[in-house]
Amino acid sequence: MASPMIPSVIALDGPVAAGKTTVGAALARHLGYRFLDTGVMYRALTWIALQRGVDLEEGEALGRLATETTMDLPPDGRPGEVPLVVNGSPLGPKLRGRVVEQAVSVVSRHPQVRGALVARQREIARGGRLVMVGRDIGTVVLPEAPLKVYLEASPNERARRRQRELSQQGEAADLDTILQDLLRRDRLDSERALSPLKPAPDARIIDTQGLTLAEVVQEVLKLVGRAVA
Ligand code: DC
Repeated sequence: MASPMIPSVIALDGPVAAGKTTVGAALARHLGYRFLDTGVMYRALTWIALQRGVDLEEGEALGRLATETTMDLPPDGRPGEVPLVVNGSPLGPKLRGRVVEQAVSVVSRHPQVRGALVARQREIARGGRLVMVGRDIGTVVLPEAPLKVYLEASPNERARRRQRELSQQGEAADLDTILQDLLRRDRLDSERALSPLKPAPDARIIDTQGLTLAEVVQEVLKLVGRAVA
């Protein structure tokens, strides 16, 4: 069991492929916390919208779909294995494919979508003992979180990580295409009017360039210690 002195909720943000999901899941395992990757919620909604042929420019329709869709953490799931139970079924690796990836930035721009998903994220956070990963967790979803961490790495390093991740899923992709796609998504995430990607003023920034996963987790654990000191 984690000590009651540890911050009850940890917000972990950063750009595409900065290592948030891997680091967040490892951190949650280490602390015995639940883990919510909010990117999966936006991806799941995008997947369902594509399946149902909902127009991705239609914020109202997408907002309704987000409200009707149930999204829960698996009751006894280990972090990362089944990220989310959507309308009663576990949704996993297909959400990481390129079809969803091309469309998700458009879907996540709509205020109606963000309103519905942020409300659900706050509900889940109320249970405490949670590591929540995303783009706007420290700035918008949980501005009161006792510890906010923002992970960074250069675009080239992130593109290489993303290429490895895709190849593990059997999707070969050329590095330059990945880099251009990543820069496009960075732009969409940072320039959107609502909840743009940026560190919270009180976030602790970690440059993950050249660090191993274990080293980044150690850095965050040091901050966890300091946040309660
Ligand atoms: O972290 P990710 O790549 O799985 O996120 C998928 C998309 O969802 C990404 O384009 C940005 C969006 N997103 C968001 O707008 N807000 C969040 N809290 C998490 C993800």
